[in-house]
Amino acid sequence: MSGNYEWKQLEQDIEAILQETEDYRTIIDRVKPLLKQLLQNESLIPAEYRTPRPDKYAQYLLYKPEDEAFSVIAFIWGPGQAAPVHDHLVWGLVGLYEGAVVEKRYRREDRGEAAEPRYAVREVGEAIARKGDISFVYPPDYDIHGVSNPFGEPAITLHIYGTDIGKQPRHIHDVATGSYRDVVTRHDNEEPIYGS
Ligand SMILES: [Fe+2]
Repeated sequence: MSGNYEWKQLEQDIEAILQETEDYRTIIDRVKPLLKQLLQNESLIPAEYRTPRPDKYAQYLLYKPEDEAFSVIAFIWGPGQAAPVHDHLVWGLVGLYEGAVVEKRYRREDRGEAAEPRYAVREVGEAIARKGDISFVYPPDYDIHGVSNPFGEPAITLHIYGTDIGKQPRHIHDVATGSYRDVVTRHDNEEPIYGS
């Protein structure tokens, strides 16, 4: 799965799913076995992309089709690195490729006009993801999470989203106040590792 043919096959498979359904949960269920296969390929991520950045987690675009109907991204998490609580506003899957991460799930709640603060971002679950585990996100109710690597070894996660997530306007949430701010998290590489 490092040759162009295999990526074209993945592209065909995902585009076929997207033509059949627009239901996010159904898309996730059908893309899941494709991500499972990617996770089993030990040469998928070239060695030069596996070293953590010193300052933050690294985000590398592996592949996206010309129409940007989806994207495949690798995140490299150094020990102690974390992503703030965020949403995606599109369907997505997160697979554990190497090491382990902690994922905390959140739900945003409207506490009513009289409440101060009006919105609350409530933690609703926490799980350790280990090699081969697959998690997912989709709006509006299952879309907010935070990911961290509190362990002593680097971790690599492999993601598939229903758009180029490096261009996607979305939000970082403040758990303390329920407020959020706009964000676009660009990839750390200009060109995808594998060209379409
Ligand atoms: Fe995320």
